[in-house]
Amino acid sequence: MPQYQAVKGTRDIFPEEAAQWKYVERVVHTFASLYGFSEIRTPVFEYTELFQRGIGSTTDIVGKEMFSFQPDPKGRSLTLRPEMTAGVMRAALQKNLLSSAPVHKLYYIGELFRKERPQAGRQRQFSQFGAELLGVSSPAAVAEVITLMMEIFDSLGLHGLKLRINSLGDTEDRLRYREALQLYFTPFHDILDEASKERLEKNPLRILDSKNPALQELIAGAPRLYDYLNDSSVQDFEKVLFYLAERNIAYDIDYRLVRGLDYYCNTAFEVTSSELGAQDAIGGGGRYDGLSRELGSSVEVPAVGFAVGMERLLMTMEKQGLFALLDSDNPLVYVVVQQQDLVDHGLQIAWRLRRAGIKTEIDLAARSMKAQMREANRISASYALFIGTMECTTGLYALKNLVTSEQTTLSLEAVLELLREQAEKEPLKS
Ligand code: HAM
Repeated sequence: MPQYQAVKGTRDIFPEEAAQWKYVERVVHTFASLYGFSEIRTPVFEYTELFQRGIGSTTDIVGKEMFSFQPDPKGRSLTLRPEMTAGVMRAALQKNLLSSAPVHKLYYIGELFRKERPQAGRQRQFSQFGAELLGVSSPAAVAEVITLMMEIFDSLGLHGLKLRINSLGDTEDRLRYREALQLYFTPFHDILDEASKERLEKNPLRILDSKNPALQELIAGAPRLYDYLNDSSVQDFEKVLFYLAERNIAYDIDYRLVRGLDYYCNTAFEVTSSELGAQDAIGGGGRYDGLSRELGSSVEVPAVGFAVGMERLLMTMEKQGLFALLDSDNPLVYVVVQQQDLVDHGLQIAWRLRRAGIKTEIDLAARSMKAQMREANRISASYALFIGTMECTTGLYALKNLVTSEQTTLSLEAVLELLREQAEKEPLKS
């Protein structure tokens, strides 16, 4: 075994898999732009307080999963971003984006870091794509981000995903609910685990998010947040559901859904995939009107967004056979040089083909012609273009279709034209 291995919870993505990532990323870019979202890229690390304040100090992410470090003894603590939303809001506030236009629609694809126990579908470095709609969080805005997410899933061909949705109400609803939860859980104080005891004081809603099997029955009997919503929260939620129904987006209302981050209010949602086993959440999101103030803004920036885990999405696609047709990072043509003194001529031809937008491969290791042909077949090139003495003197080249074995002799111009046409027919090979 080699001396160095990838760190547990991280993984390498080799070319075949990278082609799948690129495919998904292309779909994300296309759909985000279709819905009017523009790309934002924020730093991989931020000041630790940003996440403590943004995500909430009693959440699992902040309590035990952050990779934090102090670059110098007097410096402020920094943290590798465990999620994107806080960084995006920080960037928008820092640039005073909302003063230039009242609404900003931003999307991203990026790496995140959480110190969780690695297992299938749960890594310490993972990626998400997501979108954040800043400046408005009306039911129409909430429905817009959910629709964008579901359309991306749909266009990738995914099936069998479940969208669960709930309303967490506004701040006052949650204050009333918090008291109700404290009343409910306090008599059971002695059977709560340490984390839940602490949460009972600081943030009882988080107890509902506990994965401790011993507490599940108790949690199941807790009051429902939905029963503490005021009329306007209920109407708001119903309007979101109305838009989803109009767009044929199926959902299940899940009154127990609280999500693992503290910034949510009103609508929150999660999408699960039955292909994934224990870590079945493929994406999630919701409204987070309070985050801007938490981060020190003097005005509230209503907002809503979602994020989807790339690894879990790709795992689901793989299980559903959705990459079967995606075989082509292969070259269209392999330039086969018949004798070593013609290599420079071959290299020049390969350069011309590539400049014409034709995906071309050529041997750089001075291998025999037989070895070059073997390689052309191994990497599934569609054509072989032969460079021999005859070709060099007459300017006519033998082009072999490696699928049908048909061979024709053509001028370089005609080769370029034929391959360019072919490249247009097979865009994945161009
Ligand atoms: P989240 O639910 O924490 O939400 O993460 C979203 C998705 O990231 C999860 O559903 C999952 O697919 C993936 N994910 C999370 N942790 C891991 C992990 N350790 N390994 C692999 N995949 C993982 C957020 O991050 C919010 N920022 C979403 C949001 C955007 N809310 C509003 N705007």
